[in-house]
Amino acid sequence: MASGQLSRAEALACSGCRHACHVMLYADTKAQLFGRIPIKHIILMQMRFDGLLGFPGGLVNPSKETLESGLTRELSEELGLALPISVEDHVDSCFAPASSSSSSHLITHFYVKKMDEEQIREVERAAASTATDHGLEVLGMIRVPLYTTKGGGGLASFLSHSFIGSARSQLVDAMLRFNLVTPGELHKALTHSLKTHAHT
Ligand code: APR
Ligand code: MG
Ligand code: MG
Repeated sequence: MASGQLSRAEALACSGCRHACHVMLYADTKAQLFGRIPIKHIILMQMRFDGLLGFPGGLVNPSKETLESGLTRELSEELGLALPISVEDHVDSCFAPASSSSSSHLITHFYVKKMDEEQIREVERAAASTATDHGLEVLGMIRVPLYTTKGGGGLASFLSHSFIGSARSQLVDAMLRFNLVTPGELHKALTHSLKTHAHT
């Protein structure tokens, strides 16, 4: 099987594949940075133990649990609260063949869940206090800046960081799919991000 997208059913039929589920939690907000730059949406990501940015979630075992209950279990460890994720929150599944860095095939399932701003705050509070993984597998939850400042800061700088697996493209695709940034805003940020990378 080549790398690429596959349906949830095809993914579950793959014997010998490992499965990982991750979720993008987001909310709308009226908050303004410096009292003038609209933030518009809050998207949660995390700083992982390996120094890379990623989404909360992790390895699940479909022979023992459903993908969604496995994801909910991972979230309780990483976020410190029970957060039910359902099949309707599933966005896509991607196949990554075994490589020099990974001895078995991995299928990554991506979910997106919209919440209220107050629920996002609750997740942030729990992740920094009751989560068993806090300070271990998860070094902290972070919000994604969705604006570009005059000097090119914001989303452009954020996208220049290093991400685990396909987390960066999952973020970019989801921002477009759920209208969290316009294609124009994203193009501006990506162009800036490329320039920033070229100088380092
Ligand atoms: N896109 C693609 N792959 C991803 C993504 C993503 N957004 N996020 C994580 N992965 C990969 C990781 O590289 C890892 O191989 O999915 C796998 C599981 O994800 P984790 O969140 O890292 O798994 P988790 O179960 O939370 O943590 C277990 O402990 O034994 C170590 O290194 C092992 O990362 C693993 C961790
Ligand atoms: Mg985990
Ligand atoms: Mg994890």
